[in-house]
Amino acid sequence: MGFQIVGTGRAVPEHILTNEEVSKLVDTTDEWITVRTGIKSRFVSTHETITDLASQAAVKALQKAGIDAKELDLIVCSTVMAEHASPSLSCMVQKEIGATCPAFDINAACSGFVYGLDIADAYITTGKAETVLVVGAEVMTRHVDWTDRASCVLFGDGAGAVILKKGDGLKAIRLTAKGDDKLLTIGSTFCKSPFGKQPVLDPHFKMNGTEVFKFAVGAGLKDVKTVMKEAGVTSDEVKMVIPHQANLRIFQAIKEKLGLSDDQVASGIDHYGNTSSASIPLMLDELIEAGRLVPGDIIVMTAFGGGLTSGACVIKL
Ligand code: ACO
Repeated sequence: MGFQIVGTGRAVPEHILTNEEVSKLVDTTDEWITVRTGIKSRFVSTHETITDLASQAAVKALQKAGIDAKELDLIVCSTVMAEHASPSLSCMVQKEIGATCPAFDINAACSGFVYGLDIADAYITTGKAETVLVVGAEVMTRHVDWTDRASCVLFGDGAGAVILKKGDGLKAIRLTAKGDDKLLTIGSTFCKSPFGKQPVLDPHFKMNGTEVFKFAVGAGLKDVKTVMKEAGVTSDEVKMVIPHQANLRIFQAIKEKLGLSDDQVASGIDHYGNTSSASIPLMLDELIEAGRLVPGDIIVMTAFGGGLTSGACVIKL
């Protein structure tokens, strides 16, 4: 397969919102949020835009890779909603970092970063690109209803980025989609038209948490088992599984079913909350920076979310 990760970067807003502060906005407690989700605090954008966060993460990844933005052949950003429907977030990042390559966004909700890796792999494998920037960036706190305690407590903002170059780091990758607009939706940005007979949708995030939880555990387990088998790696050989940071209890279920140790499951949900498609690249960069992941380590990424979509991959760093 086509790529090697040669640089990672991340960016989060300055403002940290604790569970105590959230409990002043809605009827909840630090205890409820901690026990049900594992979240203690999250970063919330105040003045930072999604373009700021995505561009900062991209610049850091470029610096770590020692690559100039002009060397990029493709930029793919995963986001559920950029600032504008057009220009895309990818085009805004291209402008901010001084790149000149083609750029487009993808929306596969929380699985979007893994979808982005798959697209990058296709471009690199077919020789259409040598150097690709993939970014996962979200400002979920702008999509939630801050009067709905069931959802607003869950999310945070941030961006993570990777630079990919031709190599043999990707060992297996799998994507799934099962169209469903009942369990998890983020409403539309459509305006009202004098001719439109369809209602303008509520723009807020809505989720049937219990059913999405079951989907996430089921899809995550199936995907991880499939890619590990395809890559020919055992649980012992995996340095770390990086799950989409949605809920600590999802990680625990995956850990137990796969017979992994605590150290083998990456968790940053306590300080990030759920950052949708930014969560895996945020964790990846944090773990590399902390020296907990080093070149040669085998990692598994697994993501699941709106669509419903899921994706997993095995990568040798
Ligand atoms: N504080 C206090 N009580 C609350 C809160 C809150 N913030 N939110 C809900 N409750 C109450 C409910 O009203 C309910 O009360 P009731 O029993 O009197 O009716 C009770 O707590 C239990 O509510 P549930 O929704 O059943 O709680 P659950 O244990 O399922 O946890 C959660 C909810 C955390 C959302 C969980 O279902 C979950 O994590 N689901 C999966 C989320 C996920 O994986 N998302 C990934 C894709 S989405 C994305 O990433 C963009």
